[in-house]
Amino acid sequence: MHVPCRTTLLVLTCLLWSLSFTPRCSSKPDPHQRQALIEMEARRATGGGVVLNEKEKLVDKKLQQMKLQEMEAPDFPPAMHFFKAKPLIDASPVFSFLRKMPKGAALHVHDFAMVGVEWLVKNVTYRENCYVCFNDENSVRFVFSSVQPKALPHCSTWTLLKTLREKLNSTELDNSFIRNLTLVTEDPDSEYPNQDVVWKRFEQAFLVAYGLVTYAPVFKEYLYKGLAQFYEDNIMYVEIRALLPPTYELDGRTNTREWSLNACSEVIKCFKAHHPGFFGARIIFTVHRGLNSTQAVQIIDEAMRLHKKFPEVMAGFDFVGREDKGNPLWYFREALGLPEKRSVDLPYFFHAGETNFLGTAVDQNMMDALLFNSSRIGHGYALAHHPVVKELARKMDVAVEVCPISNQVLKLVSDLRNHPAAGLMAEGFPIVISSDDPALFGASGLSHDFYQAFMGFGGMKSNLSTLKELVFNSLKFSSLSPTEKKNGIANLLVDWDKFISETLL
Ligand SMILES: *[C@@H]1O[C@H](CO)[C@@H](O)[C@H](O)[C@H]1NC(C)=O
Ligand SMILES: *[C@@H]1O[C@H](CO)[C@@H](O)[C@H](O)[C@H]1NC(C)=O
Ligand SMILES: *[C@@H]1O[C@H](CO)[C@@H](O)[C@H](O)[C@H]1NC(C)=O
Ligand SMILES: *[C@@H]1O[C@H](CO)[C@@H](O)[C@H](O)[C@H]1NC(C)=O
Ligand SMILES: *[C@@H]1O[C@H](CO)[C@@H](O)[C@H](O)[C@H]1NC(C)=O
Ligand SMILES: *[C@@H]1O[C@H](CO)[C@@H](O)[C@H](O)[C@H]1NC(C)=O
Ligand SMILES: [Zn+2]
Repeated sequence: MHVPCRTTLLVLTCLLWSLSFTPRCSSKPDPHQRQALIEMEARRATGGGVVLNEKEKLVDKKLQQMKLQEMEAPDFPPAMHFFKAKPLIDASPVFSFLRKMPKGAALHVHDFAMVGVEWLVKNVTYRENCYVCFNDENSVRFVFSSVQPKALPHCSTWTLLKTLREKLNSTELDNSFIRNLTLVTEDPDSEYPNQDVVWKRFEQAFLVAYGLVTYAPVFKEYLYKGLAQFYEDNIMYVEIRALLPPTYELDGRTNTREWSLNACSEVIKCFKAHHPGFFGARIIFTVHRGLNSTQAVQIIDEAMRLHKKFPEVMAGFDFVGREDKGNPLWYFREALGLPEKRSVDLPYFFHAGETNFLGTAVDQNMMDALLFNSSRIGHGYALAHHPVVKELARKMDVAVEVCPISNQVLKLVSDLRNHPAAGLMAEGFPIVISSDDPALFGASGLSHDFYQAFMGFGGMKSNLSTLKELVFNSLKFSSLSPTEKKNGIANLLVDWDKFISETLL
């Protein structure tokens, strides 16, 4: 039978055809065919279309050697819980390479989970007028106030921290605050036996930080510090999912959401002015998915207004909170359809598919995100189970924001070699790597997550081409305008080439 093999699209069909139907002259499979199939797979993978120059090829060789050595060690960090793997990763040459590598943009991080918590404890809680109370869930709350604050339900009376520190051992107290603010622990498997427990602690940790970071002066410093920590990790641009909560002043007065957005705008400008090479940051306004449909209509209304007023700093809208326990996107359809109905632009960046419960209302979120024209999908962990959604996402050029460490700590997957994004990378599905809540996991800006993706998802297959595509994806799939994107990518290329040259020294 004659099979025409004119176009490259047909090559695979032809190869498979000939594999099964060519009369066998010898019993062994044809090694040329085998090689052709291997190359075909490699071309499809993330990085498969990236052509490396001579310098990059040399760097790739070095990188592969480093990796080989690390893969031979008895403990493979991506297979371990991050809290146990972190010291190994920190000592790894591949990690130090990734730290120095320009990583472009962080597209999925949350406002109050960016700054290492030591700063909150060692710097912020040491300021004047900081009160603490101890609640009946083994947690604490903080507030700044010029007068004795009114007691919270289920919490002890507020105590001035300064007074408390005179009575108790400050080091021990501070360490307990640090434990309250992160999920980090020596024995994660027994401390967090299931998703309910770990999510509960996660939400508690957010509430502990909340009283500190919503104090107006701290709110601004926190954002500045957050940008600084990402900048130090060689990230040039950040898109922050932000609750934009009302901040408060020492006398209890509160500021509006607009104040918060204005503050973000000022801080970003100021940070850029002091850090040449930093490209900027934008805000994705988020609300908790626990709100009801009436409240959602009001919020979307406000989001449209804010987006119109702050088009430069505000990129769009998203929901946060545990997907499995919150309302699905479809529940909010009336609210989410408003911008289209009024012909107003409000880009969406939905978290969707951060679940491993199949067939639930929440499991539909990825499809609904696309139906509402979401610009990207946060997590998309469940994507492999939805072939039609996957095809649609590819057609619409919607990238998935993959956050490996977050998915592991929040118990969707334990061994990162089994993360579904490994499959997405193998087929070159558009993804970006991000870190979700690095401060809560004890991770850096993006480098730890890049390590997990490079070593865990890619294994021996991933290489400098893979990294280069992931890095440039981050700007390609950002919310920047076409012109800004072009400039950003040009700047990134300069940084990239400089990094390659320096690595060869
Ligand atoms: C690097 O990985 C890509 C994607 O799998 C592949 O196409 C390419 O051939 C690899 N490069 C080298 C030098 O192995
Ligand atoms: C606290 O942090 C701020 C902002 O980063 C910094 O300016 C200040 O020096 C710090 N204070 C102390 C005591 O570390
Ligand atoms: C406070 O606690 C730490 C750690 O338990 C201990 O090393 C230190 O000596 C204590 N300091 C005082 C003043 O008791
Ligand atoms: C939070 O801090 C309080 C007060 O020091 C402490 O009793 C409690 O054990 C801490 N909670 C956690 C989860 O570490
Ligand atoms: C939503 O919540 C608000 C405030 O709690 C309430 O007034 C309203 O009736 C609720 N709407 C629906 C549809 O449940
Ligand atoms: C999504 O975009 C398509 C194409 O631009 C448009 O026809 C459709 O109405 C949009 N849907 C929503 C819900 O905005
Ligand atoms: Zn998130």
